[in-house]
Amino acid sequence: MGLQFVLNGRKMSVLNVEGHETLLSVLRDRLGLLGTKEGCGVGECGACTVLINGEPVNACLTNAWKIHGKEILTIEGLASKDRLHPIQEAFVDKGAIQCGYCTPGMIMSAYALLKRNPNPTKDEIKTALAGNLCRCTGYKHILDAVHSAALEMSQDSDD
Ligand code: FES
Ligand code: FES
Repeated sequence: MGLQFVLNGRKMSVLNVEGHETLLSVLRDRLGLLGTKEGCGVGECGACTVLINGEPVNACLTNAWKIHGKEILTIEGLASKDRLHPIQEAFVDKGAIQCGYCTPGMIMSAYALLKRNPNPTKDEIKTALAGNLCRCTGYKHILDAVHSAALEMSQDSDD
């Protein structure tokens, strides 16, 4: 029996998944989705953050079989055909990306936050991103980007 789940809105099936495989290895090694990064590999950096049924998880710590029957969202699922997601645009506009290694995980955590809390305070943004480490930016531009994306998204939903 294969592992079946919905990935970025599409039904997927992956065969012969071993009991020790992680969600991160399924995404990167089996499906070739390299947007989700492997940093520490032990649940400390957040570079591998993806959403399972809307909740952020560390894909490096998640056994692949835990996603059977669930909905997975990765960074590849955010942009629409002709436009980056507003959070991605805000990261570019606010200079919140340097080496970029933390960026997919940061954006997925930010996306989960803005889905459940469309108007977060800066402290709420900090708390939501506390599990995502960045060695380059000093975090200020990242916080500004998420704040700016929240404003943009709430204006879009008012239109
Ligand atoms: Fe998963 Fe660091 S690679 S938390
Ligand atoms: Fe380099 Fe965050 S931009 S680790």
